Amino acid sequence: MRQNTATDLFSNWAKVGRDQGMADSHDPAVSEILDNILKYHKTSFTFIDAGCGNGWVVRKVRSIPYCSMAIGVDGARSMIDNAKNVDPDGEYYLDDLLSWTPDQKADIVHSMEVFYYFKDPQYLTDHIVNNWLKFNGKLVIGLDHYIGNPDSYSWSKDLNVHMSLLSEQDWLDIFLKSGLSNCKSWKANASKDFPGTLVVSGDLLD
Ligand SMILES: C[S@@+](CC[C@H](N)C(=O)[O-])C[C@H]1O[C@@H](n2cnc3c(N)ncnc32)[C@H](O)[C@@H]1O
Repeated sequence: MRQNTATDLFSNWAKVGRDQGMADSHDPAVSEILDNILKYHKTSFTFIDAGCGNGWVVRKVRSIPYCSMAIGVDGARSMIDNAKNVDPDGEYYLDDLLSWTPDQKADIVHSMEVFYYFKDPQYLTDHIVNNWLKFNGKLVIGLDHYIGNPDSYSWSKDLNVHMSLLSEQDWLDIFLKSGLSNCKSWKANASKDFPGTLVVSGDLLD
């Protein structure tokens, strides 16, 4: 059977309101990630959410006083429709992450539960590092599908959609190979029942 594309799958989810449940379930990890990367950020910053879904992270970050611009991009039409319905003045782009480039590069590029849907995550990371990030900017991603979270191993089969199942070290190697520095990984929202969201970050130094 032909696999679904991730953008078709999530557009269908958004049509029936499943985008909000997903946002709610991602919120604890994303809040921890944002607290972690923004705790020392006491100057104005710009922000792009890659694979923004219904735009909830964009709206969350835009409410932070030092944020001067927060925009989102997603390839699922109904996700972007939902984002624009609740926030008509927000900046949301319907596009493929592999081809889209922003008018202005950003200080922070964030992405939650997106990068493993790509067959070649190195290509996506390189594209973002080369075309979306300012010098001294940071790329930070959260992933629940990784080697080390066994409950996630069946997701690709269950949803009939491609997912790249990689280890923490594989993701760090991708970040390093794309030219990022200070590459780090850690787990957000871990509990006794969940090994945590794998967070990987790196800085683009000039
Ligand atoms: C698991 S959802 C996460 C959405 C959002 N980050 C959140 O936390 O609610 C993955 C998102 O990645 C988007 N996506 C996957 N592949 C994409 C691509 N090639 N271009 C643009 N968006 C893509 C999907 O449309 C979907 O909205």
